[in-house]
Amino acid sequence: MVNIETKFLGLNLSSPIIVGSSGLTGKTGSIGKLEESGAGAVVLKSLFEEQILAGIARETRKGGVVYGQTDIDDYIAFYERKHSINDYMDLIRDAKKAVSIPVLASINATSDKEWQAICADLDKAGADALQLNLFVSPFDMRVAGEGIEETYVSIVRKVKALTSLPLSVKIGPYFTNIGNLVSRLSQAGAEAVVLFNRYASPDMDVQKMSIKSASARSDETEYRSSLRWTALLSPFVKTDFAGATGIHDAITAVKFLLAGAKVVEIVSTVYKNGEKRIGEMNDGISMWMKENSFTSINDFLGKLSADNIADTAGLERVQYMKKFGDIG
Ligand SMILES: Cc1cc2nc3c(=O)[nH]c(=O)nc-3n(C[C@H](O)[C@H](O)[C@H](O)COP(=O)(O)O)c2cc1C
Repeated sequence: MVNIETKFLGLNLSSPIIVGSSGLTGKTGSIGKLEESGAGAVVLKSLFEEQILAGIARETRKGGVVYGQTDIDDYIAFYERKHSINDYMDLIRDAKKAVSIPVLASINATSDKEWQAICADLDKAGADALQLNLFVSPFDMRVAGEGIEETYVSIVRKVKALTSLPLSVKIGPYFTNIGNLVSRLSQAGAEAVVLFNRYASPDMDVQKMSIKSASARSDETEYRSSLRWTALLSPFVKTDFAGATGIHDAITAVKFLLAGAKVVEIVSTVYKNGEKRIGEMNDGISMWMKENSFTSINDFLGKLSADNIADTAGLERVQYMKKFGDIG
């Protein structure tokens, strides 16, 4: 008998397949369908720090009026902030009523400013855990990478002090030394890291001479950088790992479990294939386990991570020197 239950952030999950933060997890109706289809947990659509701040800016300029009076501006800012936050707390409460799988709240944070106060409310609303979707803008050439990384760590430290919820942190892949940052996030209190987020990228329309967005959805070849870093770091950093980006099928999910991830977060494959893809991935993992005589995920978790393989060169290799040599 094969059992695909797993533990992530101290939560018991019936499956390692989590549906990641997206439009799929922004409404209770669709969250219910994800549970029915076999999701182990959901990460709610993020409350964006920018969304709160943009709301404030919009309200202060309504009808072309810029109040410019500190007390009125402060009142509107307070009202707008409260409004966005209250809506989000309602989403958490409704989702918790609608499903019995764990519900992770998600906040997109870009700075370590006072928005963190809302973390306390997340506990009250009933979220099972919090996922921080961190992105500190790297577009100011005057700011060195070190300063940006310190903001990531500082956000985690401050949030950790404000919530008793288990904390996971989703980051992107663009750091000089990912292992160093991940271990600092762990020391700052992150009980899990999600490797990696996938950011919107620009493209160009050469007929219209304009900038356009590339597809918001990943394809099934995009998982490899997340897989590499999960396998390299999972044995050495005391935090849970979740794989993300480009995980579209059961065998790719199995690869992440072999790399040491406790769970995978999927989004694009559900958009492309419908909720039924979650059940197909659960079945595919079970089938692979049967074929390989594993009865629980712990039987093979991390079997191909950096401390369980004879030679890590295959995980660390980034250049094709030999291949070019052969060709030359
Ligand atoms: C339409 C859409 C909306 C998303 N919204 C959020 C969001 O609100 N918060 C967040 O942390 N990630 C968001 N993401 C990113 C996903 O959670 C995920 O990290 C990314 O899509 C990579 O996973 P995938 O390859 O399975 O799609 C969104 C992705 C898509 C496609």
